[in-house]
Amino acid sequence: MSTKRNFLILGASSGIGLALAEQLLAKGHNVGVVGRRIDPLMALEKRFSPQCFQRKIDATSSTATNEIAILVEQMGGLDCFIFCAGVGFLNTKLNEHIEEETLLLNVVAFTKIIVWATTFFDAQNKGQLVNISSVGMHRGNKSAPAYNASKAYQSNYLEGLRQRACAQQSTIIYTDIRPGFVDTAMAKGPGLFWVSSPKKAARQIIKAIERKKAVAYITRRWQLIGWLLHLLPRSLYKRL
Ligand SMILES: NC(=O)c1ccc[n+]([C@@H]2O[C@H](COP(=O)([O-])OP(=O)(O)OC[C@H]3O[C@@H](n4cnc5c(N)ncnc54)[C@H](OP(=O)(O)O)[C@@H]3O)[C@@H](O)[C@H]2O)c1
Repeated sequence: MSTKRNFLILGASSGIGLALAEQLLAKGHNVGVVGRRIDPLMALEKRFSPQCFQRKIDATSSTATNEIAILVEQMGGLDCFIFCAGVGFLNTKLNEHIEEETLLLNVVAFTKIIVWATTFFDAQNKGQLVNISSVGMHRGNKSAPAYNASKAYQSNYLEGLRQRACAQQSTIIYTDIRPGFVDTAMAKGPGLFWVSSPKKAARQIIKAIERKKAVAYITRRWQLIGWLLHLLPRSLYKRL
């Protein structure tokens, strides 16, 4: 087993976050698991007692960072924070409330919580901050404009923090995870391909965390799509 560390996963009640929690706990780490649905979190705590610490927190609530701080205290510290909570909706009709719901979690709550985690790691002068972005961060998307835009925001935000850490000669590590399709409730719509299981995605994410990667595509071959999206001329992309 690698050295035992304290992880906190925000968005651990299903999908990628749940698979990450199970695998990190199985490796012997301490893991704080957070989400709004308490049953899956309690099941994890029961299965992996005493390494697992659960807390029901809505990331968009005004008390979210205070509650995260309480959980971290219960865990006796934090080495790695994983922001895995996310929402994404197909919204071709551009319902403004749907767009707003995406922004409230993926942008506003994301920023508040990442600022909290960075401030926490700054104070102890060590730590690793991981965000689950998306390969979709590279370009806009006609079916889910707010989602792709929010993922571009997240990846850019992390890059800004990495540059900030470098300027401050800080040892804090920022890891930007960019999955393609993973078989969870979030993967919706037609035309899915190269779909990974959450377990396989979690295995590759944990490797990227252990290797202290700045950016990782999940699964690895999605890097090809990342390059393609990056290089595709705007005049062609708009017709897709
Ligand atoms: N699946 C894919 O194909 C794919 C591809 C690229 C990127 N991603 C990203 O991967 C991340 C995880 O998604 P997933 O695919 O594993 O989908 P998922 O199963 O729907 O997981 C989403 C997680 O976010 C949590 N969450 C949502 N709103 C929350 C809130 N207000 N407060 C706290 N937690 C909240 C959910 O917990 P509760 O509902 O219990 O609160 C759940 O644990 C997301 O950021 C997503 O954008 C997924």
